[in-house]
Amino acid sequence: MSQTTRLRLTSLFFVIIFATLVLSVQLPVPKYHRLPSLRQQAKIQDAWRQERINNVIPALLNKYNIDLWIVSQREYAGDTVFWSLKPATTFAARRRTLQIFERVTQKRLWGLLQQSTTVRVHTLVDNTDQIWSDLRSAVDAANPKTIVLNIDSDIAFADGLHAGEREAIELALGEHNLAKVTREPRLAVELIETRVKAMIQPYKEVMETVHAMITEAFSDDVIVPHVTTTEDVVWWFRERIQAQNMTTWFQPIVDVFRRGDDSTKPNEAEGTVRVILPGDILWCDVGVVAYGLATDTQHLGYVLRDGEDEVPEGIHEGLRSYANVMQDIVKEEIKVERTGNEILASSLERINEKGITGTVYSHPIGDWGHSAGPLIGMVNLQESIPGKGDLKVIPNSWFSVELQALVPIPEWDGQVVPFRLEEDIYVDETGANHWVYRRQEEMHIVDWQSKDVTLVAQE
Ligand SMILES: *[C@@H]1O[C@H](CO)[C@@H](O)[C@H](O)[C@H]1NC(C)=O
Repeated sequence: MSQTTRLRLTSLFFVIIFATLVLSVQLPVPKYHRLPSLRQQAKIQDAWRQERINNVIPALLNKYNIDLWIVSQREYAGDTVFWSLKPATTFAARRRTLQIFERVTQKRLWGLLQQSTTVRVHTLVDNTDQIWSDLRSAVDAANPKTIVLNIDSDIAFADGLHAGEREAIELALGEHNLAKVTREPRLAVELIETRVKAMIQPYKEVMETVHAMITEAFSDDVIVPHVTTTEDVVWWFRERIQAQNMTTWFQPIVDVFRRGDDSTKPNEAEGTVRVILPGDILWCDVGVVAYGLATDTQHLGYVLRDGEDEVPEGIHEGLRSYANVMQDIVKEEIKVERTGNEILASSLERINEKGITGTVYSHPIGDWGHSAGPLIGMVNLQESIPGKGDLKVIPNSWFSVELQALVPIPEWDGQVVPFRLEEDIYVDETGANHWVYRRQEEMHIVDWQSKDVTLVAQE
């Protein structure tokens, strides 16, 4: 080995050691991403919409062997799927708006068995009875074997046909066509559920922004112990979301778990405004909407006590050895073709085997915060969920992994604290799933001691 080679290897060694140290010590701080202009956002969203119409709808019509799908609505009484199919510059259906999706199968002579399916979209907008004869002409010309109307008594996403609209359309279709009407709730569910690949990058940026927001909220920039209330932090989130030019789909929730409180009783503290104190475990549930995509995130923080310079070991362990372990299990159990109920059962079994007591209530996310697709438990339903729990995971879908671990904290005389976490994942086209941004592995820390704390009254 020459002198230079030895030198090179030695420096390579140090570079690797250095890189490993840097990487293992701290993850990069999440940063805020700015949204593009409204005009640019509209262009991006319309491209996603076009892909859903061109690719997703024909694939679903084939999958469920449906020839015609009719979505019918009036202004302000839109079908649920309307929101997943409208152009970005449309804000409501107009007059009476009918969208008819007709399956068109072309058989190519060459290649013999080669078949390709496209969709022909008929959009009818009118405020006279002419719309019904136009509907009849379109249906007669298509001569379908099967017609789907969005009626379902269980799944809201598949029940977008309003009651009066149903009466009108059934009359207009006539006996002959009515005999071809069938129900296929999975059509609406999977249209809303299926993600377009190009959505991932913007979604990751929105998610990093949410992490940046929570990191800021759960710090001494926002929280002054003995002064700041949980409600102050809630409204701080609302203002910050607004400042990012994003909106939300629920009022953020901020709460504390405190030594001496019996904080395991569900929802006991909900709605109660509390002044944040040193030694509190902080919890938040925050969701934003940007590009028509919803997020849902729950994180935990800790307010250092006087003289404390790190999170007590038992609290750190609650996150790492309980809540993170549950997240890993649920994430691993989410597999294509499995039902929500199967995922729930196998997750709870593995969680129990680890000796962890906890609950799982994970759900699809995307166009809606609680979006269409298989539910994996609900807070009050840990056995199984009939209907919505029986739906199967499909590729290109997103989930919010939402759960809680009940953790006894040794430093708090064994007091049990619910460690509630929520983090979104995406299932890719191969069925593998990934955290959209990343999940929380360190408590957010409010270290107020270096600050010259001045007591100011909060508005
Ligand atoms: C929000 O939108 C306004 C108006 O277009 C713009 O001035 C501002 O910079 C935007 N804020 C962020 C954080 O993108």
